[in-house]
Amino acid sequence: MIENYLSKQTCVVNRALKKYLPKDRSKISEAMRYSVNAGGKRLRPFLLLEAGKICGARAESLLPAACSIEYIHTYSLIHDDLPAMDNDDLRRGRPTSHKKFGEATAILAGDALLTEAFSLLSVTRNPSDRVVRVIKIISDSAGFNGMIGGQMRDTLETANWSKRTKKKNISDLEYIHDNKTAALIKASLLAGAVLSGAADRQLRAFERYGKNIGLAFQIADDVLDITADKKLLGKKGSDVQNNKLTYPAVYGIEGSKRKAAKLVEDAKDALSLFADKARMLIELADYIIERKY
Ligand code: IPE
Ligand code: IPE
Ligand code: MG
Ligand code: MG
Ligand code: MG
Repeated sequence: MIENYLSKQTCVVNRALKKYLPKDRSKISEAMRYSVNAGGKRLRPFLLLEAGKICGARAESLLPAACSIEYIHTYSLIHDDLPAMDNDDLRRGRPTSHKKFGEATAILAGDALLTEAFSLLSVTRNPSDRVVRVIKIISDSAGFNGMIGGQMRDTLETANWSKRTKKKNISDLEYIHDNKTAALIKASLLAGAVLSGAADRQLRAFERYGKNIGLAFQIADDVLDITADKKLLGKKGSDVQNNKLTYPAVYGIEGSKRKAAKLVEDAKDALSLFADKARMLIELADYIIERKY
């Protein structure tokens, strides 16, 4: 059920992305299209659209914002794969951007997607006070106190964490995962809800759901890095080789799965006020830890 719905929504998002991506033949536009069109689960746009729908908005009015979130996510992947970061050569089943175009173009393609994301947000046809709030939510979640903060700590701890105490590792690990991944996932839900004029208690529910599924999502990503069929995953899995501070490194595979399952239960509880309207988000929470890629 959720998988059918996800693939239907993925088509809606992919159509919108095609509409908004630059169409010219310049190298930078080619590199932007290459990474965005490589596929991906489109989880963040899905969450934005779903939160918006639950609060009564029509999908069309949310599509620029949904694409904007996917641009930011894709930029983060391009930069995450660079030799100076995780040094990966496969992403979404294709050579990474720097392998295909060279490092300079990959860096610039990431920069271009990040800036274009905010240009797209500015053309959403929604009341301007809501758009301004969403710009703040998304920029905070992607910036130094959010995704970049998490990526920075991830980079600082790589290969160094084994010298620290378990207590320090657990606190770093939570900071890294909450920020590098959960922040943007949570922001996706809040953006959809704010654009639809959601009430404060609805926003609080999405915040709690987003924080929990966001962390569970990154724990599952860490587990899949070790256990997944790499062809299906579309990336090679480099955490062990890079000596990354991950959930499996600290809690083992089974311990990590137990932690993720607990987070998913709390996430689902957070949605009780939406009753049956939240059915898809509830199924999605289970899917996040059961997924194979
Ligand atoms: C991968 O994200 C990076 C993380 C933040 C865990 P996704 O697993 O959502 O990647 P795509 O978009 O489906 O390729
Ligand atoms: C990346 O985490 C998170 C961001 C890109 C912000 P990972 O390094 O675990 O993501 P993958 O496994 O390369 O997709
Ligand atoms: Mg990384
Ligand atoms: Mg990586
Ligand atoms: Mg990973």
